[in-house]
Parts: sequence; structure tokens; C-alpha cells
Amino acid sequence: MISRHKKCHIITFGCQMNEYDSLRMAQILSDTYRLTPFAEDADLILINTCSIREKAEHKLYSLLGRLRPLKQKKPGLKIGVTGCVAQQLGKRLFSRAPHIDIVAGPQGLYGLPRALKAIEDGKTHIAMTRLEDKFQIPQVSVPLPIRRPTRAFVTIMQGCDNFCTYCIVPFVRGREMSRPPQDILSEIRSLVEQGVKDITLLGQNVNSYGKNLPEPVEFPDLLRAIDDRFPELRLRFTTSHPKDLSDDLISCFSSLQGLCEHLHLPVQSGSNSILRRMNRKYTIEQYLEKVEKLRKTCPGITITTDIIVGFPGETDKDFQDTISLLEIVRFDQIFTFKYSERPGTAAATFTDSVPEEVRKERLQQVIELQNRIGLEQYRRLENSVMECLIEKGQGMKLQGRTRGNHVVNIIENKQLVGQTVNVFIEKACHHSLKGRLVN
Ligand code: 5AD
Ligand code: SF4
Repeated sequence: MISRHKKCHIITFGCQMNEYDSLRMAQILSDTYRLTPFAEDADLILINTCSIREKAEHKLYSLLGRLRPLKQKKPGLKIGVTGCVAQQLGKRLFSRAPHIDIVAGPQGLYGLPRALKAIEDGKTHIAMTRLEDKFQIPQVSVPLPIRRPTRAFVTIMQGCDNFCTYCIVPFVRGREMSRPPQDILSEIRSLVEQGVKDITLLGQNVNSYGKNLPEPVEFPDLLRAIDDRFPELRLRFTTSHPKDLSDDLISCFSSLQGLCEHLHLPVQSGSNSILRRMNRKYTIEQYLEKVEKLRKTCPGITITTDIIVGFPGETDKDFQDTISLLEIVRFDQIFTFKYSERPGTAAATFTDSVPEEVRKERLQQVIELQNRIGLEQYRRLENSVMECLIEKGQGMKLQGRTRGNHVVNIIENKQLVGQTVNVFIEKACHHSLKGRLVN
């Protein structure tokens, strides 16, 4: 039987929130389009972009260049650019790449069905980049088309009001707006019905969840409501801003059965003067106090972080403070970024930029240090038995995840995807563990 559906190919750059938005696009287009993994087969190609660092933008332009011959061969093919770069550049993208048909920001993507209809009616170059202050993520009745059977992400809030001076997010994702708890709970229910067992709640700053709802809700209350209704579900969230990490939220790590022992808490720098210039609104002393509380409440909790090196004005001393911080906290994993100037942000006007060579050197130094610390942290898990949810299995290889978010590789030829098993950890590697099943 020939499908009545056209084919859509989605390419996603950037963060988990973009991954979620891509699923949302597939969901809202599912009346007319089915996903295809092949760009050559597609009637519609959507590129969901990220503008957090400049490199992500370059990737978009080279991809658009590669898609041009495809469009020449197949004039009916439609190309849309969505996400943060689309929001930032808007109509300017059409002059840079006239073979694009639609440009839609993170809020505008919900207008895709309408825009595609308008293109079919003969319109060209449609841009949807208005940012509404009171934007609400619409509720859609068809389920999210998830690809991985066990793990999924659910956006609980959109936008950010923090304006860290390096960050483009508040400009491209707009003001903070939370989804009502009932929308979130019904989306989680639908994912659980599809077999999902591990859910990460997403927001730029989940700690401010619920403040702007007609009936305000605190984030820990949302966690309690989810844990109460889905006690079997592994629950995680990201990202948490250190300035707003409350005692109530910390206590959830000991009181909620489903909440996994894992927190991503971006520190960005170990220097108080850089944190001030970044507008982060906490000091290193306050950060360390929260880490201590977390470890007291939930011994063994996995703590991960983001570090930016080479922020304008970062001296050798400031950088050494970051190095010391890594030694003090001993994160399980860190995500490292070379500062990248983003047009329109406050830091883009700072004149004391750090030379590229120095940024590179500092990045290398941080990576090397963390490679050692990370491995030492992982080695502490050797010879223990850990609860592992199996996410993938092929041939003799199974791959699972601990509650603390460690990836575990297991040599075993069994069909266990979706099951939680006990695993004896034999060896720690960089960023993963090796183990065997325990009967
Ligand atoms: N340059 C480098 N890194 C950045 N990040 C955000 N903006 C920039 C930038 N302009 C990093 C931060 C943030 C992570 C998602 O990306 O560390 O936590
Ligand atoms: Fe960007 Fe800061 Fe908002 Fe995070 S909290 S999205 S770093 S402005």
C-alpha cells in the first residue's frame, strides 16, 4: 500500500531542548509527513539549529551549501531552518541561502503546518520569528514520536530570564514560560505508555519552574507530583541554576524514590570576579556550600558541570581558580567550552578579550585535568553492584545507564532492553563503565 504521507527529514544541532523541539515538529506535522532518515528521500528537510556558540552556525551554512544541489534536482523539495539561528537571523537567512523556504524560531515552529500550506498555495520565503512574552507550548493530542524506547526528554519550560552576559538563549528563546503541570503529566503518561522508563525534564532554569503560571507551582512540587503518579519512573532534570537551587529541591534527592542521584549544576568559572562579570549571581563559596549540602543529603550523587574558559578579562589567576575548583569539587564529568562571542549579548561589548591561543591552551588544560579526575571518580565504582537500565542491545553488546547517569557496557547476548538489572562493575573507563550481569 502506498502511504498517503509525504516524507520529512529532520537534522538537529545543539542541546536536548532542540532534540525535543525536533520531536515536536515531527509530532505536529504527523498528519501529513512521516519521518525519513534519508535527506535524498525527503519532500521536506528541516534543520533545527543552535546558536549557543559560533561553531554551530558555521555547521548550518555548510549543510545548507550541501543541500542546494538536492533542491535543484527536486524543485518540489521544501527546506526549513528552525531553532535559535533562525530566530536570531530571521529573514536575513533568505538572502544568504535563497533555497530556504521557511525560517521559524523556537516559538514559531508551531506554525509550520500553516506555513507549509501557504508555500503550497504559492507563497515563498515565510519567516516566523515573532517572540511572544506570554508564549505557551501548545498541547498536541498525538504522542511524541520517540526513537529510543527507554529514555525521553520533556520540556517543562521555555525561555530564560537570567541574561548571563555571554549567553544568547534569552534573546532567541524569549521569556521564561512554564507548561502547566497537567500538560506535563499527560505527556509523561503517554511516554510511559510507549515504554519509556527514564525521563529528563528540560528547562533553561528548572528552578524557576511554575512562577508565571496562573496558579503558581514550585518545581519540587512538580517533581513530587510526577514521582507520586509514576513511582517506577527514573526521573532527572536539567538545567539547574546554582543561584536558585533550593533546600527543598536538594531534599527531593533523598525523599523521592524515582529522582535519580544525578545533578547537572553549571558553575561556568571558579573565579568570583569572572562570575560577577558573567552575571551569574552566586559566589564560589555559595556554590561549594550547595555541593556540600547535596553530598550530605545524597551521598554518592553524580555532579556534573559546564565550564567556560577564556571569558573576556579572564586572567591567569582567574583561570587557576577554575583549575582549583575542579580539584576541590571533583566533578564526575564536565562539559567544557571555549568562550564564543555572541552578537547582541552584553559580553560582546567587553573589550578585554582573551587571545584565541590562550583560550585553546586553557581548554586543553581543563580537559586534561578533568580526564584524570573523571577517571578517578569512575574508578570508585569498580567492584560495586549497580542498578542498570538497559537502553540498547546488539549482538553481544548491551548498554545501560545507572541512576547516577553512568553509561555501562556489558558483554552479554540477551534481550534485556527496557529492563532494570544488577551489574557488577569490573572496570572504569573514561566516560563509561564495563560490567557483567549479576544473577
Ligand atoms: N560561549 C561559550 N560557551 C557558552 N555557553 C553558553 N554560551 C556560551 C558562549 N557564548 C555554555 C555554557 C552553558 C552551556 C549550555 O553552553 O557553559 O552552560
Ligand atoms: Fe543562558 Fe544563563 Fe539562561 Fe543558562 S541561565 S540559558 S546560561 S542566560
